[in-house]
Amino acid sequence: MTTPSRKLSSARLTQPTNAFVEEFTASVQFDQRLYQQDINGSIAHATMLSSVGILTESERDQIISGLNTIRDEIEADQFEWSIPQEDVHMNIEARLISLIGEVGKKLHTGRSRNDQVATDIRLYLRDMARPIAEQLSRLQTALLNVAEREADTILPGFTHLQIAQPVTFGHHMMAWFEMLSRDAERLNDCVKRINTMPLGAAALAGTTFAIDREQAAELLGFDRMCQNSLDAVSDRDFAIEFNSFASVLMMHLSRFSEELIIWSSAQFDFVDLGDAFCTGSSIMPQKKNPDVPELIRGKTSRVYGNLFNLLTLMKNQPLAYNKDNQEDKEPLFDTIDTLLGSLRVYADMMGVMTVKPDNMRQAALRGYATATDLADYLVRKGVPFRDAHEVVGLSVAYGIEHQKDLSELSLAELQNFSSHIAEDVFEVLTLEGSVAARDHLGGTAPNQVRAAVAKARKILD
Ligand code: ARG
Repeated sequence: MTTPSRKLSSARLTQPTNAFVEEFTASVQFDQRLYQQDINGSIAHATMLSSVGILTESERDQIISGLNTIRDEIEADQFEWSIPQEDVHMNIEARLISLIGEVGKKLHTGRSRNDQVATDIRLYLRDMARPIAEQLSRLQTALLNVAEREADTILPGFTHLQIAQPVTFGHHMMAWFEMLSRDAERLNDCVKRINTMPLGAAALAGTTFAIDREQAAELLGFDRMCQNSLDAVSDRDFAIEFNSFASVLMMHLSRFSEELIIWSSAQFDFVDLGDAFCTGSSIMPQKKNPDVPELIRGKTSRVYGNLFNLLTLMKNQPLAYNKDNQEDKEPLFDTIDTLLGSLRVYADMMGVMTVKPDNMRQAALRGYATATDLADYLVRKGVPFRDAHEVVGLSVAYGIEHQKDLSELSLAELQNFSSHIAEDVFEVLTLEGSVAARDHLGGTAPNQVRAAVAKARKILD
């Protein structure tokens, strides 16, 4: 198989490109990933050109059949990508000409690589949004399963990483679920703007041919068309927006990872991530390291880096297209790959993670997690909150001194701190009583967790 060695765009230049410059300016090494979108875009373009009379039906058919052959060649790994042909677009076009001859040279009528590449990236992003949304929803489902299973499991909730109040593990998982739901919304929302067609903008000003942009848009499944040709070929804000969505999502996964790392330490020992998601140490035989969450925390920085990369890439560019934009692809591809991998491994890991309710319970008891409940109890008995706060502070100090949780103090002991305390106090001092009392929308009560899970399942379906 041969691709023409003569470059498609070099007639004006009298001297050959410097060999290293050729390699330096080429993008085919990485943009060949766009081959499907490039071929689909070209098929739509050729179809449109024939329907407006710029190509005959026979020319259109030869072009389409040539492009289909090229797709097969690429997928069978029989396509020779050539650096001198610079990028995915020229490689495919050159091969088309070598396959079908003169007719192939008509394909590029009324378009430019500038609107072509912008179209390809938008199509690619739109296509990749689907598997990303699927993985995200898999992870959400995994979280719902854990939340449902652990709706009654109690662990200490933290503020300042100090034990604050008891919460249910299901409630804690649903917090992450909520954050991921907003991420899914953000993805959907940016796909609306991604799915806008630049084709027809040509190099920058539009084309002198009577093209039918609407038809091309419909053929490619675009919801709308870019309304200004200069904007269409130059801006990459849709890619930046996608990367912003990705950065926020990774930020969430990174925070969650931080908790999993802390929780799986010997000091906390709240969860077991499963041997399949941890690794050992080459020197310390006792180690079981939470590599997966650590790596996701680490990979978050590369996604942030890609966002900053794209923002910086854009900020100095005058209208319209500049070669700088060729640099948009690698960060974008890297973000997509990182996201897909991270979501997938996370969903799998959530499927096997187990919790250690006894350790969580002990931690909550040691931390006087029901102190606020005692204060609220006193307020309900008519004690002003500030006074109640003080009474409880003194009770906790007494408990620490005698190594007892508040629920383990006797009624007589408690009554030393306030005469308002009666037998019914023990209903609020237990961990179960504490979580069950927070029984309103958004509260940690097991009832509420189950209701939240049921509601979320309906929305996810
Ligand atoms: N490989 C180029 C890119 O990724 C395609 C567009 C080239 N256009 C141009 N006028 N040189 O941006």
